Amino acid sequence: MATAHKEGHAPGHIGLLTSGGDAPGMNAAIRAVVRTAHYYGMQVSGIMEGYEGLIQDAIKPMGVRDVSNIIQRGGTILRSARSRSFLTPQGRATAKRNLDRHGIDALIVIGGDGTFRGASIFEREHGLPVIGIAGTIDNDLGGTDRSIGFDTATNTAMEMVDRIRDTASSHDRLFFVEVMGRTTGAIAMHCGIAAGAEYVMVPERDQGIDELIGVLERAARTKSSVIVIVAEGDEEGGAYEVARKVKKRFQHFDTRVSVLGHVQRGGNPTVADRLLASRSGVAAVEALRKGDRNKMVGQVNASMVLTPFDQVLHKPVDLDEDLLRILGILSI
Ligand code: F6P
Repeated sequence: MATAHKEGHAPGHIGLLTSGGDAPGMNAAIRAVVRTAHYYGMQVSGIMEGYEGLIQDAIKPMGVRDVSNIIQRGGTILRSARSRSFLTPQGRATAKRNLDRHGIDALIVIGGDGTFRGASIFEREHGLPVIGIAGTIDNDLGGTDRSIGFDTATNTAMEMVDRIRDTASSHDRLFFVEVMGRTTGAIAMHCGIAAGAEYVMVPERDQGIDELIGVLERAARTKSSVIVIVAEGDEEGGAYEVARKVKKRFQHFDTRVSVLGHVQRGGNPTVADRLLASRSGVAAVEALRKGDRNKMVGQVNASMVLTPFDQVLHKPVDLDEDLLRILGILSI
């Protein structure tokens, strides 16, 4: 039976979890939530493996020293999972019973769209206040300019492309480098511009092989090597598929493919991600104290803001067309 949480009542015991794909900076956010909660005299319990830990009752109290020495570490000390059971009403009812047994009266969830979809349903069914923190390398959420992990992942991808360029330019080669992003080209576009790539293929825009061939033909007249960044979810296929299609029609360069993969999800978070995570953790706890619920903490124009989950989920994040334009100018 759902028990509606009284609007405006400040919770005293926060349950904290990370869900979906991990992202560098999640640990810094965990640290910030735990320390801020204790600063305000609230309790925190860590829930292991995302929503699955709620169902399995993998819940343990966290003190301020439990989050020592983690701000610099990638991954998530709470671990993460994609829970099938939490998709069912029975699973969510079990989760609520476990929370009640521990006396937990609010949740902070760190993750991406799937995490907030789960949180939203849970809040509707069981009335528990939930605040979200944007943690995904994909940067595909409304309500924030950046999600935790994006800066680190993009820097990692850029460093890899820098290295690839060293070898590409020593051999007159055309490299197709695949970066993460099933539905968004944010990593591809930012990394492409930062690493000086000749072209970037993104899922948001149907660029087609013809346009790419045109760029390659122009580049072949003046350049000794070319780098093309391909987001994994591009409509022409991943980097191997794009390379295969190009090779059929254009053989000027010796071609190689490099798929960066999960290397982009690991590593020590950058300053930008640690700061964003720290600010987000503080803002999330303070939002709960003020009686906010069912919202995600994000950073817009350098300020921390709260956006209702439904707007975060339903607002499509468009590709910044100006970045494409800039890439075209700078890669001549
Ligand atoms: O959502 C983050 C992300 O790294 C995506 O960029 C990528 O498509 C996906 O997760 C990979 O998921 P998994 O780790 O389950 O293979």
